[in-house]
Amino acid sequence: MRADGIIIAIDGPAGSGKSSTASAVAAALQYRHLDSGAFYRAVTRAALDSGIPPERWAELTRDEVDALGVGAAPQGPAYRITIGGVDAMEAIRAPEVNAHVSRMAAVPAVRDWLFGALRSAGERGGLVADGRDIGTVVFPDAELKVFLVCAPEERARRRLREQGIDATDTTEIHRETERLTGRDTADSTRAVAPLARAADAVLVDTTGLEFDEQVNAILRLAEHAIRG
Ligand code: DC
Repeated sequence: MRADGIIIAIDGPAGSGKSSTASAVAAALQYRHLDSGAFYRAVTRAALDSGIPPERWAELTRDEVDALGVGAAPQGPAYRITIGGVDAMEAIRAPEVNAHVSRMAAVPAVRDWLFGALRSAGERGGLVADGRDIGTVVFPDAELKVFLVCAPEERARRRLREQGIDATDTTEIHRETERLTGRDTADSTRAVAPLARAADAVLVDTTGLEFDEQVNAILRLAEHAIRG
């Protein structure tokens, strides 16, 4: 057992509810929540704001990534992401970030730069981290690994509801499903650290589950893992 508890890794595709689930699991266990996607979003936001054309991102060096000024500080049970010292929690959720983040997440220098920061957040344990490669690359030693899946149309409906858009409109559902599956393909087929289920990850299908049910399912697994 680590000083502050176990590490729980939650991976899965876009819109599978990883971050909200991880946050609720962390709150119930009084652990810290690390949303790794937020860091890739922050690097994307900063590169867009600095006017670096997306066609050039693949060649970014570690020093250039460092110069983008992305930072994170523990705040309560989570991390507050900043760019140039300014709070960026809202700016990283903008549609242009959604549209470009997969490209940035495939850049080796960016993944390399973030790896150390993410690993050090887990030094003492007591952490629920979510992303695409948490159980496979960042914390292959996590005591509990969960891989969340959910039918694409249901993920699209949940995303639309979050944005206050009519989740019964079939055109909207179709459009959002295309966006999500496009991102899934980009995240699963890239050369570095693709979205993948670790061999020892527990598969949880949330398609027919209410939010509380999926949180409780993971908490039951966590109790088991904590008891060892
Ligand atoms: O979970 P999210 O939608 O906030 O993630 C944003 C993007 O970051 C997503 O397209 C994939 C990428 N990502 C990644 O490559 N590895 C992670 N561990 C987390 C996110």
